[in-house]
Amino acid sequence: MAKGSSFKTVGILGLGHVGLPTAVGFAELGWQVIGTDSDSAKVSLIAVGRCPFYEPDLEPLLRKNLAEGSLEVTADVGEAVRKSDILFVCVGTPQKPDGSPDLSQVESVIRTIAENLNGYKLIVEKSTVPVQTAQWIKRTILRYAGNDAKFDVASNPEFLREGTAVHDFFHPDRIVIGVESERAKKWLLELYKPLNAPIVVTDVNTSELIKHAANSFLALKISFINMISDLCEAVGADVTEVAKGIGLDPRIGPQFLQAGIGYGGYCLPKDLRAFIHIAEEHRVDFSLLKEVERINDARIDKFVRKVKQALWVLKDKTLAIWGLSFKPNTDDIREAPSLKVISRLLEEGTNLRLYDPAAMENVKQIFPEKPPKLLYCKSALEAAKNAHAILIVTDWEEFKNLDWNKVKEVIALPIIVDGRNCLDPKTVREAGFEYYGIGRV
Ligand SMILES: NC(=O)c1ccc[n+]([C@@H]2O[C@H](COP(=O)([O-])OP(=O)(O)OC[C@H]3O[C@@H](n4cnc5c(N)ncnc54)[C@H](O)[C@@H]3O)[C@@H](O)[C@H]2O)c1
Repeated sequence: MAKGSSFKTVGILGLGHVGLPTAVGFAELGWQVIGTDSDSAKVSLIAVGRCPFYEPDLEPLLRKNLAEGSLEVTADVGEAVRKSDILFVCVGTPQKPDGSPDLSQVESVIRTIAENLNGYKLIVEKSTVPVQTAQWIKRTILRYAGNDAKFDVASNPEFLREGTAVHDFFHPDRIVIGVESERAKKWLLELYKPLNAPIVVTDVNTSELIKHAANSFLALKISFINMISDLCEAVGADVTEVAKGIGLDPRIGPQFLQAGIGYGGYCLPKDLRAFIHIAEEHRVDFSLLKEVERINDARIDKFVRKVKQALWVLKDKTLAIWGLSFKPNTDDIREAPSLKVISRLLEEGTNLRLYDPAAMENVKQIFPEKPPKLLYCKSALEAAKNAHAILIVTDWEEFKNLDWNKVKEVIALPIIVDGRNCLDPKTVREAGFEYYGIGRV
């Protein structure tokens, strides 16, 4: 605990991709942190200093803070609530089949908070939730804990990116807090003070809406550049140069302008759908976002068509798939484009040789190994063995710096379909490969 602070302990409820880096980050900043999760197997792993998912730099920092005692973990969610003054809700908010957010994890943890209230608590939504969720949280606490319950609800949406979560915790572009009381504002400003980051203080509804607006805008940028890439292909222009040419304009910015097989992951797809759903509920016509989603969904078809154009008949062809995680530096495969690519190519009767530096165990749960139809390989080179083409689905750094002569020695046909535009076409063409990128010749 920092000297003179108004609160003692920070509780983190849900130790997933957001909760665990947050718990470790606050502990590293000097706060006393208690983390908890309803998944006791996960808590047991974390308690011995092991990160249950792949996230660079997180494990050493986890071990350090457990050893120093600034971070403790428990599988008893109620105990964490009772011991904490500030409670960060970091549970999952998956989507229901109709695209609306499933808030059952949030409701469940809020009821646990209500049942264990032993004094004033500041309850902070860090999970991505629809605007007006805080109103429901307040009602639920009052319903289960009675009208005398002492608490505030605040919103503090999370912007960290998997794969760089530790860096992002310590170097946020901005911190957004939505508050309704002076105490909530004071505590949250105090908590984040050591980060010295720009802080936007606003009301709770606005803060909740900022997160969905941010992710929807990022998805829109990706779908926009993907349409530009289609146009580039039609007229013989280069989308990577277009992205450079427009991205240098500070009003546009260079990020999220990489054309490819579209966005995936736990955030953009579900947050976009949730935002569309929220707009519909409030009778706001946000059809712009429906188009963003439609464009993204069509990327997989477009990619498979490109593979067909390169190979003609796909049946009985052997294809190396490089990259399975939804983006590099994570083993997260939630809504990963690779899963759709694998399904489509299996339907076409191809044999697949898969490789990913981190995500293979997760993909095996969905697509068990079945040689010769589906084989998991130990390296990119092994996956390329006897293949009729290499398909790059995730742009891991290691794919960019391979010895292409060695790849050429093992492959059956030297063809690369680069779904992420991550290779230099000139380099691989000089090495003797036929190269097909997205929106560039
Ligand atoms: N993953 C990201 O990159 C990212 C970034 C920003 C925001 N978010 C948002 O943060 C939230 C969490 O995402 P995540 O990726 O960390 O999810 P996750 O599935 O990795 O983690 C959620 C954790 O909450 C636990 N949990 C569920 N119910 C619980 C309960 N009642 N009590 C205690 N623990 C409970 C689960 O066991 C799980 O470990 C989501 O709303 C997500 O949209 C995610």
